[in-house]
Amino acid sequence: MQVNSNNVTYENGFIQASYQYKSSNVEKLENGTLKVTPKTTDYTFKTDTKVPKLGIMLVGWGGNNGTTFTAGLLANKMKLSWFTKRGEQTANYYGSITQASTIKVGCNGSEEVYLPMNQVLPLVNPDDVVIGGWDISALNLSQAMKRAQVLEYNLIEKLDPYMRDMVPKKAIYYEDFIAANQKTRADNILEGNNKLEHLETIRKDIREFKAANNCDKVIVLWTANTERFCQLTPGVHDTAENVLKAIENSEAEISASTVYAVATILEGCSYINGSPQNTLVPGVIELAKQKDVFIVGDDFKSGQTKIKTSLVDFLVSAGIKPQSIVSYNHLGNNDGKNLSSEKQFKSKELSKKSCVDDITGSNKILYPETNKIDHEIVIKYVPYTGDSKKAMDEYLSEIFLGGQHTLVLYNVCEDSLLAAPIILDLILITELFERIEYKVDGMRTFQRFNRVLSTLGYLCKAPLTDENTPLVNSLYRQKNALDNIFKACAGLHADDNLLLEFKCP
Ligand code: NAI
Repeated sequence: MQVNSNNVTYENGFIQASYQYKSSNVEKLENGTLKVTPKTTDYTFKTDTKVPKLGIMLVGWGGNNGTTFTAGLLANKMKLSWFTKRGEQTANYYGSITQASTIKVGCNGSEEVYLPMNQVLPLVNPDDVVIGGWDISALNLSQAMKRAQVLEYNLIEKLDPYMRDMVPKKAIYYEDFIAANQKTRADNILEGNNKLEHLETIRKDIREFKAANNCDKVIVLWTANTERFCQLTPGVHDTAENVLKAIENSEAEISASTVYAVATILEGCSYINGSPQNTLVPGVIELAKQKDVFIVGDDFKSGQTKIKTSLVDFLVSAGIKPQSIVSYNHLGNNDGKNLSSEKQFKSKELSKKSCVDDITGSNKILYPETNKIDHEIVIKYVPYTGDSKKAMDEYLSEIFLGGQHTLVLYNVCEDSLLAAPIILDLILITELFERIEYKVDGMRTFQRFNRVLSTLGYLCKAPLTDENTPLVNSLYRQKNALDNIFKACAGLHADDNLLLEFKCP
């Protein structure tokens, strides 16, 4: 795509685009009136179009998501097709916004024109990435893919020769943080309890992986078991200095995931947390800012929550008042087994529960006093269900004149087939943001986005935001923001869907 505008230049491998950001400041006057002042801020975005050779390291590489992600990328790269009982299937990237969604770029007469997201700005091609990682289980990726029971047998057979030699590196294992029922698979672990030594080993692993594969950069993503929350402790988790000191002292409340995150940040690589636990404690956030590294979290937004954050948005914006949501889940994969333990379930419950608060909070007509609704989450481990997670949700809402509206949803999602494309998107978009800089009115030099990359909230159940940043869970608003950031950096207007040229011809 080439944008025909004085606001965009293509020079020396950079796209430079000016963008007028329109927002409004709101003040509450003494008499209760809201004074709203619209304002326009001039931004310049500069995107490096040179796509790097990217290394991806997954924590929990041998799990259902890790193996499905690796298998999916290989199947696409080799353009594999395989037989299922429904006939021949070819590899695709359904479920990935970077590979399979489009963004409207304008109108050709009365025809709206859309481009694939990965053609609006240059993204790494998934065929060109190198994948590695760690797992507490020693199985090679082919064995682990069979254990996962996600993919069709004929596809597994075709991938087996390519995944047999992929072996996870030894992992950090702090028993107390994941469920006791995971112990039987922990046969590939770093010895001892010296957290500083563990940190140094992970740092070395990242450096060696990067060098061995001639990568320009590496991104690390946690897709290992959900950990329990660490108990946030002043003097341990509150500042970057204290987190580093706590690792040196092998403090008990430093989780394995925090050690991976710190090691990654110290290596200058972005870290993404795909599970709900509080890995990215305030001290880790401070460290990421100090080291100019992006962090993204928390917890992949794949099935039930994706629907919840669009359905509740739809109800509330229609003036309907959701009063209770009850979500039952059962699943039979190893994630479900881990979540059958109370402390790990609590991490997931919290992540799943808080996802509508900002939506209900946006409407003081429906929720004048409190926007808290009855919201219950139940998760049961039912081994026979395997990776095919069932989610049953009941939404009870109050409608006109005290009437009641009941919506019941039965959502069957093959968990890892939904999560793997999200993992790809999280990594590719994070990598892109590493190549974008901005300047705003009066700034002399270009800067990078806030290191807490909340723009990726669309892909996260509990988006991590920096302090003093509004939290947005609404799926529509999140996708809109992401699409529009792509457009702004490419030199296009944000889409407001006004279509005034047709309404006021
Ligand atoms: P899984 O249990 O199949 O895979 C996790 C892997 O992590 C296992 O192979 C395990 O051996 C390994 N592991 C555990 N602790 C480790 C450590 N300290 N270091 C390295 N490896 C470690 O689980 P699955 O289904 O792949 O999910 C992974 C994570 O993603 C879970 O936390 C889950 O809650 C989260 N998630 C998954 C979603 C989905 O749709 N599949 C959606 C949202 C989050």
